[in-house]
Amino acid sequence: MPERVYIFDTTLRDGEQSPGVSLNIREKLQIAHQLARLNVDIIEAGFPFASAGDFRGVQAVAREVRGVTVAALARASAPDIDRAWEAIQDAEQPRIHTFIATSDIHMQHKLRMSREAVLETAVEAVKRAKGYTSDVEFSAEDAFRSDVEFLCRVLAAVIAAGATTVNIPDTVGYAMPDEFGEFIRQVLEGTPGIEKAVVSVHCHNDLGLAVANSLAAVRNGARQVECTVNGIGERAGNAALEEVVMALYTRREKYGLTTGIRTEEIYRTSKLVSTLTGMPVQFNKAIVGKNAFLHESGIHQDGVLKERTTYEIINPSLVGINPSNLVLGKHSGRHAFRERLRELGFELRGDELNQAFVRFKELADTKKHITDEDLEAILDETIRQVPSTFELEYLHIFTGTTVKPTAVIGLLIEGEFVQDVSCGNGPVDAAYKAIEKATGRKYALVSYVIDAVTGGTDALASVTVKVRDEDRVYTGRGVSADVLEASARAYVNVLNKIVYDEKTRKQHN
Ligand code: KIV
Ligand code: ZN
Repeated sequence: MPERVYIFDTTLRDGEQSPGVSLNIREKLQIAHQLARLNVDIIEAGFPFASAGDFRGVQAVAREVRGVTVAALARASAPDIDRAWEAIQDAEQPRIHTFIATSDIHMQHKLRMSREAVLETAVEAVKRAKGYTSDVEFSAEDAFRSDVEFLCRVLAAVIAAGATTVNIPDTVGYAMPDEFGEFIRQVLEGTPGIEKAVVSVHCHNDLGLAVANSLAAVRNGARQVECTVNGIGERAGNAALEEVVMALYTRREKYGLTTGIRTEEIYRTSKLVSTLTGMPVQFNKAIVGKNAFLHESGIHQDGVLKERTTYEIINPSLVGINPSNLVLGKHSGRHAFRERLRELGFELRGDELNQAFVRFKELADTKKHITDEDLEAILDETIRQVPSTFELEYLHIFTGTTVKPTAVIGLLIEGEFVQDVSCGNGPVDAAYKAIEKATGRKYALVSYVIDAVTGGTDALASVTVKVRDEDRVYTGRGVSADVLEASARAYVNVLNKIVYDEKTRKQHN
């Protein structure tokens, strides 16, 4: 049996630290459930001390998601660790992940602490965490820029205090693969007691080397990789889970290692994370980008048709990318609809099924063939949503090259019908202004992205908007065969999320 590399997913913690990303509890739960289906070993669900919202998110994941270790991040301080434990105590397998920086630059300028004080604080933190749970991870922040001898002393001390995993981050993405591999080898050789702990790495992507560095570390003895779906995270992000996993799999003859990941869930997970965070995946992104398995040149196409492996090192179906089959149309019944969803892994019943089916029928009236990707988009828009305070009843737009764009909007606001009208610089602007008048809510638009769910001029349009409300950015999405309707739906969706967030915050205050 090949040795195992543990996959520690930090999409919900480091990934959520991506600029402009903020997930509500429902969204965190959806992602966490999908990560469990993907079969990651550890889900880092958040940083409970950071905010009440973070605490609730971590707690919800710990209470609901089974079959996986749930970790919470805590600085090396008693209040942080206590709060982390409070959030994860109901998890099936709880882990406290505590950290302090060990590089001179961080100790001098950020912490203003001596080496000895840092060492002592790290040990105290691990002991405190150990009082709560046997599964304790210690991270030496900015480890790669630390003095390796001092780092080894800290790691030996925290292992003696009970840390079961020790993590060596390249916090600022500074390392080169050969250097990082060598660094891990030195740590393994220079740390007494290291065999009692799992050695982990956590690489940032500032120089585009996070995956390469993680693999170099694994080659030199690391057995846990911290990563995020689509590589999202602070600044340029973290090592991309899908790339690490597929590199280990595709080149298994080189590494002789395995992960527990169900690779067929990779593509779906990537799409879910992209949809809910509102962070698009670049077209040429390895493994999950739109172009990752497309062959444009005639020579390549010819080769692939003759023998797939001439130009494809991974079979797309291995990561869950299957050619979009034309599945359903407007004559398809409820039974066929439900069966197809079941085949795609979605078990819908009752109200959820009704809602999704109604939306499917509406779309099937305007688009002849509804593909699997369309179905997923419909689900994103219906069942994967927060409760609707606002519902779009209708949108009428008057526009053209010689008229001032004008929108009439009909909304249900908590069940009551409201209509309003507005002009704008363009049809979307007019629609958004009409919605703002009808709801009495107005926010700064941070971004507006339009995408086609599938190819063809009859493709469904998917619009993602981000708006800012004080210090938070919210993401909304709308899908329709009509671009303007999709735009209005996206805006209504983001308003629903803001109201939902306000209500949950009030409930917990
Ligand atoms: O990048 C980093 O060092 C981190 C630690 C908290 C693990 O995210
Ligand atoms: Zn990080």
